[in-house]
Amino acid sequence: MSSLGLCGLTGQNGAAPHLRCRYCRAMPAGGPVSSAPWWRDAVFYQIYPRSFADANGDGVGDLDGIRAHLADLVWLGVDALWLSPFYRSPMADFGYDVSDHCDVDPIFGDLAAFDALLAEAHALGLRVIIDWVPNHTSDQHPWFLDASSSRTSQHRDWYVWREPDEDGTPPNNWVAAFDLTAPAWSVHPATDQWYLHLFDPAQPDLNWDEPAVVAAMHDVLRFWLDRGVDGFRADVLHTIGKFPDLPDDPPAVAGIPHCALNDVPVTHERIRAIRSVLDGYPDERVLVGEIYLMTTDAIATYYGTGDEVHMAFNFPALYAPWTADRWRAVIAETMATLEPRGAWPTWVLSNHDNPRHRTRYDLAARRRGEDAATTTRRSEARARAAATLLLTLRGTPFLYQGEELGLLDAEISPEQALDPGGRDGCRGPLPWDGSVGHGWPTGVGGTEPWLPLPPEAEFRDRAAQREDPGSILNMYRRLLQLRRSLPALRTGDLELLDAPDGVLALRRGAGADSCLILINTTGEDVELPAALSPIDGRVLFASDQVGPTAIAPVSLGADQALILGL
Ligand code: GLC
Repeated sequence: MSSLGLCGLTGQNGAAPHLRCRYCRAMPAGGPVSSAPWWRDAVFYQIYPRSFADANGDGVGDLDGIRAHLADLVWLGVDALWLSPFYRSPMADFGYDVSDHCDVDPIFGDLAAFDALLAEAHALGLRVIIDWVPNHTSDQHPWFLDASSSRTSQHRDWYVWREPDEDGTPPNNWVAAFDLTAPAWSVHPATDQWYLHLFDPAQPDLNWDEPAVVAAMHDVLRFWLDRGVDGFRADVLHTIGKFPDLPDDPPAVAGIPHCALNDVPVTHERIRAIRSVLDGYPDERVLVGEIYLMTTDAIATYYGTGDEVHMAFNFPALYAPWTADRWRAVIAETMATLEPRGAWPTWVLSNHDNPRHRTRYDLAARRRGEDAATTTRRSEARARAAATLLLTLRGTPFLYQGEELGLLDAEISPEQALDPGGRDGCRGPLPWDGSVGHGWPTGVGGTEPWLPLPPEAEFRDRAAQREDPGSILNMYRRLLQLRRSLPALRTGDLELLDAPDGVLALRRGAGADSCLILINTTGEDVELPAALSPIDGRVLFASDQVGPTAIAPVSLGADQALILGL
């Protein structure tokens, strides 16, 4: 452990803990002991391996690159890593098209590199969950190669096949993700049937009605559980059950990708069976579901009665615009929907599928008429305020690599675009240092990073930010330290408080252990009512300052976020 004042009151590298502070004093080395399961207490950090760090200089990130930077993640203060796919893949969907679930693609390393990464992460106290892609495989997977070899092949029924209609139209009106003009079906000419693919044609859907598929995919879980992973992020988990007759989507929603609509009862029993596989292992291996449905109500059902996913991503929050009203509504609805079920929320601002939140919020502000200079001025401050909210809500936060550097999306010209879903921007490689390529190849010998680096790489590299106490990176670190030191922020109750327009006010915890979180989503100073400026409140954290100010302020600065100890 570092010797920081973990209450955040000193907040400077190397400063001694506050011996007289009730937070520091109360805390044993390593943070307060909690009885909550580890995944409720943890902050996860998503790694998109292609863009994290490149150890072998081929322009694509790899497992050794991740291993080389584990100490940086410990320094930052996260508890668990989620690794996006690193399996063998033709990369039609950059790894979400798996051709061997039980091997590492050579571009990322090999199984020995994975074992070394896992062992070192564990030795450093980091848990590791990995992506598991149950709904589809690559069309180059040996299962699909066999399935498509003839109508009577051994694996034919492992995928979803339908006869062509007489009029040559697809078997139903489902739309695939990525290309919204494309049906979720492709004809396989050699065997003259359509096969289903909710995503790219190179990602045929598995048929989970087939017991052999269930057994094979459970074996994949066991393969990685036996190697010691701490759980899985299960890709579009809600799609593994489909109505047997594959009915048309209703006209009102036709045109929306079917993967955002598919919500079928049989899926729940399939998830319970998956959960049993995990529960057969010691140490609470966690199942995090990507339940890509658009209401928290629908997502909540996939927690079951504590016997399906441990946690699910909550898309209404990810897609909420940066306004106090919308966030207040999303928080209220999430708590009201999940708490009665005993279901534990997750909070995500960015991931590998959506524009980064700093980019999203800037674009939205411009659309609302904010002038360019103001957007530039407010941009990072807004991202800092949003991070403060993310890390103070009740639930498990997931950070996406690079948000701690305040990265924007990479700018991708049409010639540079690679992803079938147009998601290259948020996948720009991380700038590590101040060298010419910021830790990535620079064209010497013809090798370039697989995507362009994000803008501002010249002053947002991790090495420089680490040295600057005022950087957003050090702000994330202070926030994570404070969260770790305060049970109220980790597991305390959440109450939404009345607040002036544009301000979010939350109380976490109760009694002497509570704190007040104030987030100004506007670009103006806002005067605080007496109830939000408690006379004996102390500022534990300010999004725009390195050190604390002594007493509770009477106003919030533009785009400022504060955490007050009460
Ligand atoms: C999930 C992944 C996304 C992928 C899709 C198909 O939504 O997050 O990246 O393209 O599933 O596997």
